[in-house]
Amino acid sequence: MLVSAKDMLEKARDGKYAVGQFNINNLEWTKAVLQTAEELKSPVILGVSEGAGKYMTGYKTVAAMVKAMIEELNITVPVALHLDHGSYDGCYKCIEAGFSSIMFDGSHYPIAENVEKTTELVKVCAEKGLSIEAEVGSIGGEEDGVVGMGECADPDECKQVADLGVTMLAAGIGNIHGKYPANWAGLSFETLAAIKEKVGDMPLVLHGGTGIPEDQIKKAISLGVAKINVNTECQLTFAEATRKYIEAGKDLEGKGFDPRKLLAPGTEAIKATVKEKMELFGSVGKA
Ligand code: 13P
Repeated sequence: MLVSAKDMLEKARDGKYAVGQFNINNLEWTKAVLQTAEELKSPVILGVSEGAGKYMTGYKTVAAMVKAMIEELNITVPVALHLDHGSYDGCYKCIEAGFSSIMFDGSHYPIAENVEKTTELVKVCAEKGLSIEAEVGSIGGEEDGVVGMGECADPDECKQVADLGVTMLAAGIGNIHGKYPANWAGLSFETLAAIKEKVGDMPLVLHGGTGIPEDQIKKAISLGVAKINVNTECQLTFAEATRKYIEAGKDLEGKGFDPRKLLAPGTEAIKATVKEKMELFGSVGKA
C-alpha cells in the first residue's frame, strides 16, 4: 500500500523503533527493498533523490513503477514513496507525479526563506494527504554532487520549523552522508536531546545511516529518531557483489551475456543489507 509516512512514523516514535528509508536507483533496487519489507512485515520508505529520479527518466516513471510493483508483488506492508533532499521545484513535481511523501531541503536557504517555502509546501501536502520532511542544519558529506559541511542544528530553529506543521524533521547532529572518516567525532547526543526537548513529539530523522555504529543508532532511536536513511551501504554491497560476479567470469559463460543474471547477486546483497538494517532499527513485524 502506498501511504503517507505520517502514521508509520508516529507508531515508530511511540514504539521506540525507526522506519528505514532506503534509496532506490532502478527496478532491481526497488524490488529488493519491497520484497524484504514484505518478508519481514516491516513498514518501509523508498527514498528517491533528484539525481536518481532523473536517472529513472522522471518522477512519473518512478511513481508508476512503484505503484504497479506494490500491486503485482502483492505488497501488503505500508510503503511511502518519498522525495529525498528535494528542491522547491522538485517537491512540486513529485506531488504532481503521485509521490506520497516529500522532503523539502531548505537547509541551504537563510532560515526565514526556509520557513517561508516550508510553510507553503506544508499547506499543499496537508491538502493532498502527503507527509513532509524538513531539514534544519546541513548534513555533511556528498549528496548528488552537493557537499555539505556537516553541522549541529540550532534547537530553536528546529522548533521554529517543527511548529510549521511538518510531519518529520531532519536535524544535523554531526551525521554525514557516505562513509564516515576515521576521525569522525560521532553523533552529538547533547544536540539531539536539546532538539527533542524543544520539538516534543515531532518524529526526528537521521540521515547518513551508513556506517553509524550500532550502539549510536540505538541511542538515537531512544532519543526520538523514528526514521533512518540508508543509501551508500546498499550501493557498496551492490557494487561488491556485482564485482565478484564479473571477476568470476560467470556472465561470459554459456549462451552469453544475461543482464538478469548479472544483476542478481547485487540485488540479493541489497536484500541482505535492508534486512540487517530493519532488524537493527527494530521495525521487523511492525507493519
Ligand atoms: P548514506 O548514503 O550515508 O547512507 O545516507 C543516506 C541519506 O541520508 C539519504 O538522504
